[in-house]
Amino acid sequence: MSTKKSLLHKTVIACAHPSLALTKYWGKASSKNNIPATSSLAITLSGLTSTTRISTVKKNSVVIVNGELQPPERYSQFFQHAGALCDENLAFKVESENDFPTGAGIASSSSGFAALACGIAKLADPDYPLGEISALARIGSGSAARSVFGGFTLLRAGSHAAEMLHDASFWPEFRIIVCIVKDAKKEYSSRLGMSLSKKTSPYFKSWVLDAEKTFKEACSALENKDIEKLGDLARISAYRMFGTMISSAPPLVYWEPQTIGLLKFIERLRINGIGAWETMDAGPQVKLICLKDDVHRIETALEEHFPDIQALACQPGEGASVSW
Ligand code: DP6
Repeated sequence: MSTKKSLLHKTVIACAHPSLALTKYWGKASSKNNIPATSSLAITLSGLTSTTRISTVKKNSVVIVNGELQPPERYSQFFQHAGALCDENLAFKVESENDFPTGAGIASSSSGFAALACGIAKLADPDYPLGEISALARIGSGSAARSVFGGFTLLRAGSHAAEMLHDASFWPEFRIIVCIVKDAKKEYSSRLGMSLSKKTSPYFKSWVLDAEKTFKEACSALENKDIEKLGDLARISAYRMFGTMISSAPPLVYWEPQTIGLLKFIERLRINGIGAWETMDAGPQVKLICLKDDVHRIETALEEHFPDIQALACQPGEGASVSW
């Protein structure tokens, strides 16, 4: 007789933070298993959190994010893999809250799927290896594979799981200021956007080739804690990703008028000797890379020139965790 306890009607609460890419993942080597075509170097951001309550149920998985029922097809492949971990034919009731705008280019899918993967894996086995949790999270969202880990992470092109390069204490002065331009869901999800870029952008192949070079240079700039080099490379990676987005058909333009204003503003800060570099993702929000000593000056300048914009200063954060 089996002595294994059933996992039915168990509950766990998991938390994770978004992963902000310094060099970008944009495009899939395989869309079937959600394998990235480009290597990304990222930082897990403290201060922004997805908190997810997961209960095991007999059937009919449901996911509710910030009170809104999510389309089941977005989660079906993930739940197939997650269910297989539990050795039982289980379904999941998931209620998740983000304390930041959802689906608006602040990587809510990274923290959301990282929390979900971590919670389910730890329910199945409290010692489940982090690398395998990361591979499970990747099925849900490529960037979520990175959010499973804290600090500075990478997800290599063609790989199943992310890795942690350095924990959050490696560079405690490193800051990202997230500038929220518009708190609304984007028209094209990253997944759809990536598929459009791969199918239709004449520059997609060059983007993939070039991204590897930028990634490697950024990794060595990080090792040397060279903020100028890393900031420049992050900026280049984001703009080359935009080139691929904008050259897709239909063109993927995630920017709002204020986005451009902010990009120009950050350029001016740099010209005036303040260490600030811009990056963005699939949404209108602008993320500013800087060091702790410059945060106050940057926040003061932002308040003066963009009084309507909410700016959140984040530092390297911890990986996904659970509580019972
Ligand atoms: C622009 O991880 O959201 O933020 O794997 O299809 O769910 P899927 O995509 P997702 O894409 C993130 C794209 C990005 C860049 C990045 O975070 O590397």
